Amino acid sequence: MPKTTVLDIYKKKAEGKKITMLTAYDYPTAQIVDQAGIDMILVGDSLGMVVQGVSSTLPVTMDEMIYHTKMVTRGTVSAMVVGDMPFLSYQTSREEAVRNAGRFLKEAGAEAVKLEGGSPMAEVIKAIVSAGIPVMAHIGLTPQYMHALGGFKVQGKDEAARLKLLADARAVQDAGAFAVVLEALPASLAKEIHELLHIPTIGIGAGVDCDGQVLVLHDLLGLFDRFTPKFVKKYANLKEQALKAVTAYKQDVESGKFPSEEHSFK
Ligand code: KIV
Repeated sequence: MPKTTVLDIYKKKAEGKKITMLTAYDYPTAQIVDQAGIDMILVGDSLGMVVQGVSSTLPVTMDEMIYHTKMVTRGTVSAMVVGDMPFLSYQTSREEAVRNAGRFLKEAGAEAVKLEGGSPMAEVIKAIVSAGIPVMAHIGLTPQYMHALGGFKVQGKDEAARLKLLADARAVQDAGAFAVVLEALPASLAKEIHELLHIPTIGIGAGVDCDGQVLVLHDLLGLFDRFTPKFVKKYANLKEQALKAVTAYKQDVESGKFPSEEHSFK
């Protein structure tokens, strides 16, 4: 399978084919997502919440993102790997943003980066794109801005917020982003943004009219149950299955049923 590139992503949009993206954070999860034929793997800073167990994405560092992205690229053959730029890795200066974005490609083998924010991030996006690094933008509910937004809330609900999001969408496209994630928006507004832009829109809690969809893998697989946003569809309950398996192992060891002859050497 050849590697998916930004050109393949544009082609899918042009042909009206839906684009798929999921998160992965290590070698085995990357292999699962890649072998299922998902177009793009996002090494999301959501790993702070679903892998590290912290309560927001804010503490996640560049070094941690590089560590996880390296594991993901080793497990990926065809999906395009997008490294998520963590809080304060791109907001402080354009130089720092380009250097940190470059680390995802140079040290970890990613093919693109994602960053949160609309119009205020336009100059940063331009600088990273000028260095030859494809940028996926992310607007709407941007978890790194949770304190400014007053928590994890649906965005763009009143007229002023709607107009601001339309302007943000236009600004990230004009700055050179190759795609934009739309998170937690009324489906009607996501449709409006999709119709306004020529770059692909990737929705999460943004209705069915986006060019593609993204979810956090641990939500989809039922591995993370601290809370479940309304937009998540659970396709499995792996935590329950894993708990059953580990409990059965414990019982087998305690009762002397494991290891049996089959698992022992003569
Ligand atoms: O960090 C992440 O996983 C994300 C997705 C939810 C889009 O940003």
